[in-house]
Amino acid sequence: MFSDADAAALYDLMYPWDVARFPSDAFHHDLVMAADAVLDVGCGTGSMLHHARECGHSGRLAGIDPNRAALERARRRTDIEWYEGTAADVSWDREFDLATMASNAFQCLVGDDELRASLVAIRTALRDGGRFAFETRHPQARAWETWTPDGSDDGNAADVVDASGRALRVWHEVESVVGDVVTFTETTAEPDGAVLYVDRTTLRFLDVPALNAFLAEAGFAVEGQYGDWFRGPVTDASQVIVTIARRG
Ligand SMILES: C[S@@+](CC[C@H](N)C(=O)[O-])C[C@H]1O[C@@H](n2cnc3c(N)ncnc32)[C@H](O)[C@@H]1O
Repeated sequence: MFSDADAAALYDLMYPWDVARFPSDAFHHDLVMAADAVLDVGCGTGSMLHHARECGHSGRLAGIDPNRAALERARRRTDIEWYEGTAADVSWDREFDLATMASNAFQCLVGDDELRASLVAIRTALRDGGRFAFETRHPQARAWETWTPDGSDDGNAADVVDASGRALRVWHEVESVVGDVVTFTETTAEPDGAVLYVDRTTLRFLDVPALNAFLAEAGFAVEGQYGDWFRGPVTDASQVIVTIARRG
């Protein structure tokens, strides 16, 4: 009734990559277009790299993600390299100028060991002086408190119509908050509430000191850290921590 492929397609519908509308997408896009060789970790359906190619990026573009159905959508473009795997599986050695984890993919790195292994693998994939750009929701903003079944979170409408014209209702619900780790579900249903698909995600919400300690331990130097998408400072009102870290 509702497949993993349907879920991947719905992701693109609900969260389109749009550099004109979303400053977060524009931020990443500018970095990608300025780099010769880019590795997108947690690339999902690949829309960031698709767009870079469409805009004339002529260098090396590679994406890696553990979600097979999302990668199948990514593979619709064959002039980009696609790999199935996690951040910790990244195994290149000094091949990329830029690594990215866009749209909060970094928060999927939950355990300390996974974070350490992922950061070391990403650093190893970068050339000397290469950069790793990513964001993570600032825990002080407590974004999970808006992930409620009424569908009001982040302004995303609960009612959507998919590409085939099917009406769907999508909502989020937090299952647990344990320290800085939040587990929540995204439920896709018929308009009458009959459940079609449930996707469970666990995210870590690191604060700045904890994040920077992991980066330093992995051999990254923080080149820039921002509290918004216009390179403003991190303040006690910031909802996001945007980091550009450099391989030392
Ligand atoms: C919110 S999506 C973002 C996808 C894409 N970067 C974008 O901008 O649309 C998070 C992605 O992280 C991926 N992911 C989950 N665990 C991961 C891990 N350990 N390493 C790398 N990616 C992971 C998921 O499969 C998912 O595609």
